[in-house]
Amino acid sequence: MNGVVVDRIRHEANAKLDLKRKSDLGQFMTPYGIAEFMASLFSTGGQPVVLLDAGAGVGSLTIAASRKLLPERVEAWEIDPVMRSYLQINMESLGVPYEIHAKDFIHDSVDRIQFDMGTRFTHAILNPPYKKINSFSQHRRVLSDLGIETVNLYTAFLALTILQMTFVRRWPR
Ligand SMILES: C[S@@+](CC[C@H](N)C(=O)[O-])C[C@H]1O[C@@H](n2cnc3c(N)ncnc32)[C@H](O)[C@@H]1O
Repeated sequence: MNGVVVDRIRHEANAKLDLKRKSDLGQFMTPYGIAEFMASLFSTGGQPVVLLDAGAGVGSLTIAASRKLLPERVEAWEIDPVMRSYLQINMESLGVPYEIHAKDFIHDSVDRIQFDMGTRFTHAILNPPYKKINSFSQHRRVLSDLGIETVNLYTAFLALTILQMTFVRRWPR
């Protein structure tokens, strides 16, 4: 699948999004050319690559990163079923072993980190939703349980991604 096709799929998915939900979930997708540029910044160091994509959308970032890194496994989180249906098609065509988590990345990651479960990753590529976290929300509370105090989903996604990388000591210390 070339970049033109990936971008066509991105536009098709975008046209199906509910406008209110699009704003609530920060569903603004990355053009394939930008995804390719982001992926070009990776190096593998010759080690097997296990890739994380949090809030994967239709999977443009994962496709670009997979072409550069040839990962042995990819795990992608995406909460929205419209996005996920396209993501599934894109992942199938990629030919890399993958798992799509149809879950809220924040809640799922907090569980994985607290209970020391799930995969640890060598590489991550993400364009998280940029959205305020309400002070009294569940997201704020569970993040606080991990010692992450932030008021934006973007930084929450980054913190939780870093805590699931192979080089980070397991929780709790
Ligand atoms: C800014 S878009 C980026 C999409 C894709 N990574 C890209 O760059 O084209 C953020 C994505 O995160 C998803 N998302 C928002 N909140 C989420 C959550 N709590 N857990 C998992 N995915 C979420 C949205 O549905 C959306 O697809």
